[in-house]
Amino acid sequence: MKIYGKQIRTVDFKNNKLELIDQNKLPFEVDILKLDKLSDVVHAIKVMQVRGAPAIGATGSFGLVIALQELDKNNWIQGLNNAYESLLASRPTAVDLKNCLDEAISSITEVTEYDKALEIITETAIEIANRSADSCHKIGEYGAQLINDGDSILTHCNAGALATVDFGTALAPMRIAFEQGTKFSVFVDETRPRLQGSRLTAFELHQEGIPYKLIVDNAAGHYMQQGKISMVITGADRIALNGDVANKIGTYTKAVLAKEHGIPFYIAAPATTFDLETKSGKDIPIEERDGDEILKVGSVYVTLPEIETANPAFDVTPAKYITGYITEYGVFSIDRLSELQEILAKRKSN
Ligand code: MRU
Repeated sequence: MKIYGKQIRTVDFKNNKLELIDQNKLPFEVDILKLDKLSDVVHAIKVMQVRGAPAIGATGSFGLVIALQELDKNNWIQGLNNAYESLLASRPTAVDLKNCLDEAISSITEVTEYDKALEIITETAIEIANRSADSCHKIGEYGAQLINDGDSILTHCNAGALATVDFGTALAPMRIAFEQGTKFSVFVDETRPRLQGSRLTAFELHQEGIPYKLIVDNAAGHYMQQGKISMVITGADRIALNGDVANKIGTYTKAVLAKEHGIPFYIAAPATTFDLETKSGKDIPIEERDGDEILKVGSVYVTLPEIETANPAFDVTPAKYITGYITEYGVFSIDRLSELQEILAKRKSN
């Protein structure tokens, strides 16, 4: 993505270090973290210096490279398995993390020699990151075909370049449509409690010159009722076999509202976000985060610190509310989901 005119990848690997844009400092400061310790990579995922399903997937696979670099050449196999477990446990909902960790670790299952293992797992992690960026570009190409002059698109949370290796999922169709000269605008939900909409999505759109308006989370229904929203596009953290989608808390509310108003509701996600082992949304683990995220805005308490909270980071949108899944293989409606799942299963076994 372009930040102040400079091309930067959200997740990159240079000089044996993992480079991440510290998303907790955006939009006020663009700080690139350079990590070479597994503990720092796990911390970056947990405290959301890096966040967004495809971004944490790519980070996880580079995390294994970092872990292997730190391990003893003569005794690394158990250490790498432990690293896999601690990366996997760093955030529970986005399945991209597991899918990318599995791909990276299985690339060296037969390898016993340290140098060979390091070479192969590094190549695999780089390939995962490059493929992720390419997939997002294709999502953009397919999704842009759904956007017409005069459209006004609602998006929730941040499913932009910052949530991926590059380009984004929900924002990718908007990037391409804008490049193609389509005249549309975007409503950005601020996305409490962590404000990924106002801090990250609005920032990305602002950088690109795409017309947008930041709104409070509760305003979407009002604009739908007024006929001012023509389409909703969000990302996803995990898509179950039956098409149910876990995404940022508040997505479900927007999907129900969209159905009530006859507005198409699209999910944009790459192959790594599909979970072929989880039957339905009921089986998706929902991360519960610290209540301080609600009690504070940024670092400032807006109520008494002792107030009781409940803070689920994600919710599940049942498949019946979803008009289509925008993927790198095209746009699929629920009745064609099995076709997509066959493609994904084949890709996994190759
Ligand atoms: O808690 P976050 O910020 O990691 O949640 C991110 C989202 O819910 C995104 O919509 C999702 O990961 C898709 S990212 C392309």
